[in-house]
Amino acid sequence: MILPGLIDPHVHLREPGATHKEDWDSGTAAALAGGFTALLAMPNTQPPITDAATLSIALEAARQKARCDYAQYLGAGADNLAALSQLAPGAAGLKMYLDQTYGPLRLDDMTLWMEHFARWPRHLPVVAHAEGRTLAAVILVAALHDRPVHIAHVSTREEILLIRRAKERGVKVTCEVTPHHLFLSDEDIPSLGVGRSEVRPRLATPTDRAALWENLEVIDCFATDHAPHTLQEKDSPNPPPGFPGLETALPLLLTAVKEGRLTLEDVVLRMYTNPQRIFALPPQPETWVEVDEDAVWEISAAELHTRSAWTPFEGWKARGRVRRVVLRGREVFRDGQVLAPTGYGRNLRST
Ligand code: NCD
Ligand code: ZN
Ligand code: ZN
Repeated sequence: MILPGLIDPHVHLREPGATHKEDWDSGTAAALAGGFTALLAMPNTQPPITDAATLSIALEAARQKARCDYAQYLGAGADNLAALSQLAPGAAGLKMYLDQTYGPLRLDDMTLWMEHFARWPRHLPVVAHAEGRTLAAVILVAALHDRPVHIAHVSTREEILLIRRAKERGVKVTCEVTPHHLFLSDEDIPSLGVGRSEVRPRLATPTDRAALWENLEVIDCFATDHAPHTLQEKDSPNPPPGFPGLETALPLLLTAVKEGRLTLEDVVLRMYTNPQRIFALPPQPETWVEVDEDAVWEISAAELHTRSAWTPFEGWKARGRVRRVVLRGREVFRDGQVLAPTGYGRNLRST
């Protein structure tokens, strides 16, 4: 079975600053192994990517090390309003952290939200980490500025129903849902363990999870929110939130296709067609993913390429496996081996 090269609009690569968790090499290798040929990298690194200097640090690391194609987000801050609009064309988009999560980027003051919406070029993407009532607030502020906003990792019934209503009213809002919010719930916390189950948004109730499946048509993208932390960190007294997800997303969704929970077209729409359109990404010519749709296998962290070296789906049976990936005419993955060299990846926003 042949699929287009998948696009993940929400990935944390941890470089600069925390390359023991992941870097541009290991993270883009994990992407290719998972069937993704393009990813958009989040700005909550150390330092965070918020200006010309930090953007060039991230892009230089990417230029040297990335194995798949990419673009880098800029983070909205209190001090970088003026600097951002000039940098916008070279970035994946603007990321606004409006609730507490991993990293220092958080904007509480709604007047700052308004200023960012007023200044960021209207045709370029804005993505918000906004949960619950914060989500309602940011949809309003975006609408007041008559510009689109993309909501990251929607996880609850109230959120997806609010987005449904907003779309029905013509509000320009799009959204993504992660595989872990589609396949896990708070009932899995005891077996995962408290530290390992930490993620933002938190694992929600089975009712919330069911509402995501019932409102599939409202979900524009599946995004992994690949958020690698080491097991030592996850099992520590102060566990950071986040799950690695690049290498398990497609197998889990293909398994759900086999179970009749959604169609292959539903998957391709949300992992290729819609992210390409919403994030205005250029096509990747001669690029595809070959999948053995009937391969039954067991997910095991030992086989993953992510440096974080664990998965919340350890031991899950999946049906459907990535066999081969071709990116811009070159074989970049085959039967468990990443073949793309570091530096093969291209910046999708380079002009
Ligand atoms: C993310 C991370 O670790 O960077 N963690 C998470 O739980 N999702 C941050 C984020 O996406 O909110
Ligand atoms: Zn987030
Ligand atoms: Zn994230």
